[in-house]
Amino acid sequence: MNILILGSGGREHAFAVKLSQSKKTTSLFVAPGNAGTAKIAHNLAIDPTDFPAVKKGVLMHAINMVIVGPEAPLVAGVHDYFLSDPELKHIPVIGPKKDGALLEGSKDFSKQFMQKHTIPTAKYQSFTKESLTEGYAFLETLSAPFVLKADGLAAGKGVLILDSLEDAKSELEEMLNHEKFGDASSTVVIEEFLDGIELSVFVLTDGKSYKVLPSAKDYKRIGEGDKGLNTGGMGAISPVPFADTDFLQKVEDRVVKPTINGLQKDGIDYRGFIFIGLMNVEGSPFVIEYNVRMGDPETEVVIPRIDSDLLELFQGVANQNLNEKLVSINPKTATTVMLVSKGYPEAYHKGKEITGVQNVDNSTVFHAGTKIEDGKILTNGGRVLAITSLGDTIEEALEASYSSISNIHFDGMNYRKDIGFDLV
Ligand code: AMP
Ligand code: GLY
Repeated sequence: MNILILGSGGREHAFAVKLSQSKKTTSLFVAPGNAGTAKIAHNLAIDPTDFPAVKKGVLMHAINMVIVGPEAPLVAGVHDYFLSDPELKHIPVIGPKKDGALLEGSKDFSKQFMQKHTIPTAKYQSFTKESLTEGYAFLETLSAPFVLKADGLAAGKGVLILDSLEDAKSELEEMLNHEKFGDASSTVVIEEFLDGIELSVFVLTDGKSYKVLPSAKDYKRIGEGDKGLNTGGMGAISPVPFADTDFLQKVEDRVVKPTINGLQKDGIDYRGFIFIGLMNVEGSPFVIEYNVRMGDPETEVVIPRIDSDLLELFQGVANQNLNEKLVSINPKTATTVMLVSKGYPEAYHKGKEITGVQNVDNSTVFHAGTKIEDGKILTNGGRVLAITSLGDTIEEALEASYSSISNIHFDGMNYRKDIGFDLV
């Protein structure tokens, strides 16, 4: 089969590495890809949200399946675009249609969905410009800290957690009246603060049955000890030691099953990944958010632990016989540490030469923000490389990742030296 992966990050490189190992893969394409995917696949200079350009690439390269990495093309309706085009409609797309993508594209929609299907989540209400006064009143019924969420996609920045009622009210006003997050904050979800430990569970579904994939924990803050600004993710670990069999059974019974059943009841034919962000509150799972794709850098620890043929699983999604497929999980621990550009997550430089990647032999180097120019690998984003290792313990895996990092260099390279600090 000829496969096209949409996206350009570490997640897409991890998919590409895994799919390149499948006997069923004939040719692999990534749009737009990075320096890592260029080594194992053909990069296509196509913007994943430019659907006519995607169509051209698909027809030109006789693509048989499209795997969508990031949320933007899904929320914009890439799957619906394929289904409505006579030349594309027979080509399976791994990723939900617009209706399912709303689980990530609208916080208000996802909270309504959870409430309707009695999926445990924080108590909430939604407000618009017109109901600002009611928003203030709702905030007064809650206790600190206060959680405000822009309804729409806000590049991962739309959630504010505030310690004082005063700040919460003024931020609510900024979001609703002054478009703090543009159109994304024209509706704001205010919710109860959940006190617990976070983790993520990943599910692959064909709309009828599902497979629960390995769980993972990511480290979102830029600074050690989970301090400083939020990032896309600075590292991840899988499995999550505090997510034992008992807890994961609760997740499956209280969250996964009602989610899949809820989608069916609501007539949403969902084919793809569901990334469930959870809070473990004294042993009980609560959903913080749904994403309609895999996580990044979580993919860089989840995929290396799947021993089964990923393309075979995707075929199960496309043909709706996922229930007949087996997912075999490697019991080892996987860790990944992100190497980022100086300044990230604020303004950062690009175009710095990366050296030493070829000297890494105990880890897998997944490229995130990189490109090739004149045979040199250059930085091309805030998050640059994810260094993934497997080990019998977290400590062993982390040791391998950190020792591999000592081989790699680029100007301004930064990374957290304490990934897993709370787990070991
Ligand atoms: P989100 O963009 O929904 O992933 O939210 C960003 C982060 O805010 C989450 O990863 C949590 O750390 C935190 N968060 C979101 N909602 C809540 C909540 N209700 N209680 C506590 N923390 C939350
Ligand atoms: N690492 C978090 C995410 O992919 O949304």
